[in-house]
Amino acid sequence: MTAFSATSQVTDDQMRRYAKMIYEVAGIEISPAKKQLLSNRIRRRLKETGIADFEQYFKFLSKLPTSHPEWDGFLQEVTTHETYLFRDESNWKWLRGEFLPQLQKDGKGSLKVWSAACSTGDEAYTIACCTADGLRNPAAWKIDILGTDIGIGAVQEAQQAKFGERSMRLVPADLKQKHFNQMGGAHIWEPNSKLRAMTRFRQHNLLDRMPDGPFNLVFLKNVLIYFNADSKRRVIANIQKAMKPGSFLVAGAAEGISDLMDGFERIHPWLYRRT
Ligand SMILES: C[S@@+](CC[C@H](N)C(=O)[O-])C[C@H]1O[C@@H](n2cnc3c(N)ncnc32)[C@H](O)[C@@H]1O
Repeated sequence: MTAFSATSQVTDDQMRRYAKMIYEVAGIEISPAKKQLLSNRIRRRLKETGIADFEQYFKFLSKLPTSHPEWDGFLQEVTTHETYLFRDESNWKWLRGEFLPQLQKDGKGSLKVWSAACSTGDEAYTIACCTADGLRNPAAWKIDILGTDIGIGAVQEAQQAKFGERSMRLVPADLKQKHFNQMGGAHIWEPNSKLRAMTRFRQHNLLDRMPDGPFNLVFLKNVLIYFNADSKRRVIANIQKAMKPGSFLVAGAAEGISDLMDGFERIHPWLYRRT
């Protein structure tokens, strides 16, 4: 038997078992081609936990409840968290130019939005920023923007809400000036208290039913690309149940869900309306 080293890889059998376990817990499909990547990511957990090799770590993890902090550490490694404010200009053009003016006209006085798979909260704060700017008197509205993610680390970062220049690079200058505070001259920005008051974050697995809602608007972006058709269907069914009739779903352009959207009208390749 060869000694475990910094370049060791999972065996094909371990790859299959890890991929199955990740799929069952998070719905994410990891292809066998990602063997090197997965090995590198697990190796970081071995270093962190002091566990000797891939096999022992697999046994350790399979015995733990998924609520255990080690599962967070593991999922944090095997999922992609890339996000930034004002990602995908067309979404925000629609939100500011069509959705919010119509909402204002309807004058309901309340808005409930879900940023599903929100990572570090950039999307939720973008929604808050557009809403604070787009409604005539936002203080008179009951606005609730819920950001959720499977990763507790991401949720905690969203709650802390500290954004570097890279995350802020697409925020229009006037909105940045109006709704964000620069921290002590550093290149870190914080949403102001109004945006913070509109937003809240918590852990949630999209494979589970969402107990909150019903929502007027849901963002589901850059997450289902890693899911297969069965888990996509499960997630969409859960989301649909949490949406008001006539409400909107903003999806990522590459989510691969267009064939699974029974009960939705397709308005753009990235925008659906619950019928
Ligand atoms: C690439 S980020 C997308 C962030 C944001 N929606 C955007 O488009 O900028 C994908 C996020 O999905 C989360 N995720 C993966 N599987 C999930 C699941 N089963 N339930 C909830 N969140 C999940 C990951 O933790 C990660 O933070």
